Amino acid sequence: MLLRNACLRRPAFTFEPALPTFYLMAIYPARVNERFRSPRHAGRIRAANGVGTAASFECGCFVRISLAVETASKLIRSAGFQTNGCGFMAAIADLIAEILAGANLTELHALDENEFDRAVRDSFGPLPAERMQCVDVVLEAARAALADHRSYLIEEFRGEKALICTCFGISEETVEAFISAKQLRTVEDVTAACRAGAGCGSCRMLIQEMIDQIQA
Ligand code: FES
Repeated sequence: MLLRNACLRRPAFTFEPALPTFYLMAIYPARVNERFRSPRHAGRIRAANGVGTAASFECGCFVRISLAVETASKLIRSAGFQTNGCGFMAAIADLIAEILAGANLTELHALDENEFDRAVRDSFGPLPAERMQCVDVVLEAARAALADHRSYLIEEFRGEKALICTCFGISEETVEAFISAKQLRTVEDVTAACRAGAGCGSCRMLIQEMIDQIQA
């Protein structure tokens, strides 16, 4: 309850703690406090070509992740975050921005939850169970930013065949052919067969829809 109150009292887009230092130190674990007070990726990326927002129904706070991705190499040049959330949310958002900045879209493994949970634990130690929802909200915002980037690429795309997986340049036609020929039933099967879905993961929902349609 205390955390939630502290969270709601803070104005949007600020990282100046609204509460005295000794009070924050009592609320947040030391490593969370440290990163929350000195974030490395706070703010919106100016040349962003992927922006995603997610909000918590529990505390009402939101996180926005912005990415600047180099189209040809698929390298995420920079990543930033904005939030009106608590110190946990800000620290976790800063961590994911750090993980994303410098990563290649093709190596993100659809932002594997277990990998990210491990990274959070390694950086901050175990979080209180009630703050795990901050992790979910941050991941959702990151996924939305990757999906936004994918939409941006699809809009820019001038090729003849509709693209499904922009990370690996795999067309709808190819995915369809694999699903039908090999009787594939899951997104993981499709990924194993032709790599579609193995990068940022933002095409996985579409692949699932294609499987559902073809195998109906
Ligand atoms: S669009 Fe990134 S994995 Fe398919």
